Amino acid sequence: MDELAEDYYARGREHTRLTSGTGRLEFWRTTELLARWLPAAPAVVLDVGGAAGAYALPLAARGHTVHLVDPAPVHVEQARAASAAAPEPLGSVALGDARDLEWPGASVDAVLLLGPLYHLTSAADRARALSEAFRVLRPGGVVVAAAITRWASALDAVARGWLADDEFARIVSDDVRTGLHRNDSARPGWFTTAYFHRPEEFAAELAAAGFAVEGPVAVEGLGELATDDLLDDPVARERLLALVRATEREPGLLGLGGHLLACGTRPSPP
Ligand SMILES: C[S@@+](CC[C@H](N)C(=O)[O-])C[C@H]1O[C@@H](n2cnc3c(N)ncnc32)[C@H](O)[C@@H]1O
Repeated sequence: MDELAEDYYARGREHTRLTSGTGRLEFWRTTELLARWLPAAPAVVLDVGGAAGAYALPLAARGHTVHLVDPAPVHVEQARAASAAAPEPLGSVALGDARDLEWPGASVDAVLLLGPLYHLTSAADRARALSEAFRVLRPGGVVVAAAITRWASALDAVARGWLADDEFARIVSDDVRTGLHRNDSARPGWFTTAYFHRPEEFAAELAAAGFAVEGPVAVEGLGELATDDLLDDPVARERLLALVRATEREPGLLGLGGHLLACGTRPSPP
């Protein structure tokens, strides 16, 4: 991570990101996609860039053995504390980098890359992270990877009125043109250094690493436009989730929301 991203995560706010606003939708949808794609429990899952354990701990509660690695010391501390307090603790929590995993080859059933790929801004680094995921997976194992869509900041700029801000308008213009998101102002709501993928480019990166790719699918999709009132209403929320599910692969809608998820299977030898 560059210095801006290190400072951003050193604030230690990642553990509350998924509990409010459209963060909740990201959490519900990611949880259902993990249930769809991960092998049945008990499986060995390596959550790379797992932060404070938002997905790792519920997966451990479902019977998986989950190992979490993250390069941010504050995340490792938070994940260790949460694991120690959980009825089903994590298998291990350690500092680590997606590009150089300290795990033997063919040793895990699933790898989560829910964050590292968008923080690795060079294609070569993303390829290294994907080839590490491929290496540590047993044949037949799966990687579930997240990308931020190329137009995520543009959507925020329009929906939240931030386009009126000269600095944010410049950031958005660069994002749309190059995919390289850089927030020198360090305003936390504007995120931090990242690469924003086009959907087809994301799938191509997984395929180039040797994976048989399913997806990408939209995580929030049309739900990106949902208000808090809609998400708070249990009936409307279920209708929204059904709508997002039904449209999750529509090519014309893939870039509408903030995130994409894809699943890659390491092929078994013939
Ligand atoms: C937005 S957070 C997502 C956290 C969690 N996986 C989730 O989906 O909510 C991105 C995470 O990626 C981690 N990260 C950034 N660069 C990484 C790298 N090179 N290797 C592993 N993790 C990385 C960050 O420390 C952070 O915890």
